Amino acid sequence: MLKGQHVIDPTDLSLQDIDELCTLADQMIVDPDAYKDVCHGKILATLFFEPSTRTRLSFEAAMQHLGGSTLGFADASASSTTKGETLADTIRTVSSYVDVIAMRNPKEGAALLASRYSRVPVINAGDGGHHHPTQTLTDMVTIHALKGGFSGHTVGFCGDLKFGRTVHSLLKTLSRYPDNKFVLISPNELQVPDYITTQVLKRSGLPFETAERLEDVIGDLDILYMTRVQKERFFNEQDYIRLKDSYILDHEKMKLAKDNMIVMHPLPRVNEIATEVDDDPRAAYFKQVRYGMFARMALISKLVGVL
Ligand code: NCD
Repeated sequence: MLKGQHVIDPTDLSLQDIDELCTLADQMIVDPDAYKDVCHGKILATLFFEPSTRTRLSFEAAMQHLGGSTLGFADASASSTTKGETLADTIRTVSSYVDVIAMRNPKEGAALLASRYSRVPVINAGDGGHHHPTQTLTDMVTIHALKGGFSGHTVGFCGDLKFGRTVHSLLKTLSRYPDNKFVLISPNELQVPDYITTQVLKRSGLPFETAERLEDVIGDLDILYMTRVQKERFFNEQDYIRLKDSYILDHEKMKLAKDNMIVMHPLPRVNEIATEVDDDPRAAYFKQVRYGMFARMALISKLVGVL
C-alpha cells in the first residue's frame, strides 16, 4: 500500500510496488483517457529549490493528465526561503494546502527532513547528488517496456558517476534484482561514491567492474545509461572543463554495440551523446522522457490513494 507514504529513497518502493507502478504506467500509456479524472479535486505542490525542466514539468503534466491541479515554485528565489524561512516551516505550510508534494533541493537529505514535517506524502524529486527515485521509476518503466524485465542485464553507467544522483538511485534499485551485472565507466575522479560500492554493489553480491574507456566495454552492454558531468556540483570550474567531454557517444562507438542494446539518459544532454545518435533505433532517451510522465502519473495516483 503506497497510500500516504513518502518516497525519499528508491528503497522506499518495494519490488512489488515497482512492479505494480510499472504495470499501472503501462496501462496509462495504452489508455490515458481512462485515468483523466482520477485525481479530480487533488492538488500537487512542486517545490523546486533547484532548476529543472523535465522533472517539474513532468510532475505537473502528470497531475493535470489525472484531472488534478498544481501549484508551487520553480526557483528558490520565488519562495519565502529568501526571507529566511526554514524548510520545515515551508513544508508545514504547503502541506496544509495540498495532497502531495514533489520537492527538489540542492542539499542531500533535504527531502527526508521535509518528510518529517509534512502532513502529506513528499516525493523526493532530487536531493543534491544523493537520490532521485522518480527518475529511477521512469528508468524502470523504460526498461520494463523496452527490455521486458529487470533481471539478467549487463548495464553500463557512463559519465559522472560521482555526482549523478540518477545513477545512484538506479544502481540501488537494479542491484535488488538477480543476475544483473554493472559496468561503471567514468574518469577516475568521477567514480561512484564509496557508499555505493560498499553498501550497494558489494552487498548485493552482483558482479561489477570499472572501466575508463567506453569503446572497450560498449560491446558487452544490454543497457547503456549515459549521464552528463554535473557542472553545478563541482567546486572548481577548471576540473569541470577538463572532465566535461570525457565521453561522447557517436555513430562510431554505436557500431561496436549490440543490435539490441538501448541507450538511456535522464537528460538534459550537454554533448555526451552526439545528435547523430538520436535517429538510431537503439536511442531510447526521448521515449524515456515520455515514460517519465506516466511513471509519475502512476506514483501520484497511488500516493494520494485514488487507485
Ligand atoms: C537529472 C537530475 O536532475 O538529476 N535530470 C532529470 O531529473 N531528468 C539528471 C541531470 O540533471 O543530469
